[in-house]
Amino acid sequence: MSEQENRPQRTNLTRDLPKPNAYAVALDTEFRDYAFNEERAPLNKGKWRSDVFKCKNEKPLDVEIGTGSGMHFAYQANKQLDRYLVGLEIKYKPLIQTIRRAQVNGAKNTAICRYHAFDLDLLFDQNEINNVYIHCPDPWVTPRKPKNRVVNKNILNHIYEMQRPGSFLEFKTDSREYFLWSLDEIKETKYRVEFQTLNLYKEGGKYFEENFQTSFEKIFVQQGVEINYIKLVKD
Ligand SMILES: C[S@@+](CC[C@H](N)C(=O)[O-])C[C@H]1O[C@@H](n2cnc3c(N)ncnc32)[C@H](O)[C@@H]1O
Repeated sequence: MSEQENRPQRTNLTRDLPKPNAYAVALDTEFRDYAFNEERAPLNKGKWRSDVFKCKNEKPLDVEIGTGSGMHFAYQANKQLDRYLVGLEIKYKPLIQTIRRAQVNGAKNTAICRYHAFDLDLLFDQNEINNVYIHCPDPWVTPRKPKNRVVNKNILNHIYEMQRPGSFLEFKTDSREYFLWSLDEIKETKYRVEFQTLNLYKEGGKYFEENFQTSFEKIFVQQGVEINYIKLVKD
């Protein structure tokens, strides 16, 4: 039995969709070489550079969790063509928007997976990835829901093992409650905190100057919500 089959199934399978919409179809057709459904994605574990990106050298490979419509994903990918970027997204429409946006100029340094972040360790080997981005994840603020939060100590510990030394993890959120909760989770990991703030736009310094405002972040900033930010490093 494979590692994946041992886990509870967290999402429905694309092949079981009774009536796939255009985005679900595009995932397995138009974008098949760079978009992976929940069954094909884990087959790339340990082989992203060699099999997906056909790369003989050791270019860095970054990961973004919960890409949404892919504004940051596309910006990052096109800004750093000498790096690879793999996204995780569970909804079909934003998933296809993400890969389409990133590859519209012809660059093929990106891939996207329809995959639940809780099973990230089924996608990458230890020491396979570099930097990780988690921007405005769903906050799950109602009581008893923190168990659904993506930035938790279990996932962080998995990511830490998968990252190469010298890599960072960037997390920002509009939810103060989620952020404060995550700080306690982070204490139970091996990460070093390089920088943290409860108000990126007021106290972020160079981290604010280098910040790319995501779609959700833009909405929250327009509403006057402060953006909580932390950058973690694996030394
Ligand atoms: C609030 S949006 C933020 C999107 C984008 N990062 C931004 O800042 O504009 C969160 C995104 O994460 C995706 N998502 C939620 N839970 C996820 C999970 N467990 N695994 C992968 N993606 C997830 C959602 O489908 C949604 O597109």
